[in-house]
Amino acid sequence: MSNSESVRNLTLKIKRYDPESGEKPRWEEYKVQAEGHDRVLDVIQNVKWYHDESLGFRRSCAHGVCGSDAMRINGVNGLACKILVKNLPNDVLTVEPILGLPVIKDLIVDMKPFFDHYKSVLPFLINDEPAPTTERLQSPQDRARFDDTTKCILCACCTTSCPPFWGDQKYVGPASIVNAHRFIFDSRDRGAAERLDILNDTEGVWRCRTVFNCTSACPREIKVTQAIQEVKRAMLTGDINLENPEVVSISH
Ligand code: FES
Repeated sequence: MSNSESVRNLTLKIKRYDPESGEKPRWEEYKVQAEGHDRVLDVIQNVKWYHDESLGFRRSCAHGVCGSDAMRINGVNGLACKILVKNLPNDVLTVEPILGLPVIKDLIVDMKPFFDHYKSVLPFLINDEPAPTTERLQSPQDRARFDDTTKCILCACCTTSCPPFWGDQKYVGPASIVNAHRFIFDSRDRGAAERLDILNDTEGVWRCRTVFNCTSACPREIKVTQAIQEVKRAMLTGDINLENPEVVSISH
């Protein structure tokens, strides 16, 4: 049931762009009403359904699982389906596409460069040893070593909030390093040396300047910067078995 006290009259500013039109990107304003419990995604859908059906954006699960509705909301990366209207600081809401990836239309970006970087770090289990007759067993402690980085949903919030990535899209980016971390520190995996070699590059982990934007942007609250530092440390020490490595500031 509607609670009139929680209704907010929002001015929604959306950055619109259609590269095929030949026109420059522009800001378009919409006046919309929203309940406090609505999400930013609901507000955008309201525009699409009742104001302007030409608006382009992605979404699928609407529950923070698929990662498809990453966008820049009031200047900060986030998932539109996870941000509640009642938590917006004021009644002007700006929405634009995530930065550093080509815009296909409005809020839709081309994710191919992002997934090419992801694939480059071999984000799968590598183990050519003879398969055991039972599962490849792992202790709870070994599983906990990479638990945080298993949470990635590949939304690109981290990579596209990273200033070094904005300046150099050849940089593999935080999300790729997070997914490399997930396997490098998996006791069942044997591909750590190969992945570390791939990332030991000026377009690999050494492009990271420890800005922490990635950690702030992650909707899954992954300690992204810490994961990157752990990969750097493994590279420098040649040891992937260090217990509880501290966050260290390393530049190169
Ligand atoms: S729509 Fe799936 S994470 Fe938001």
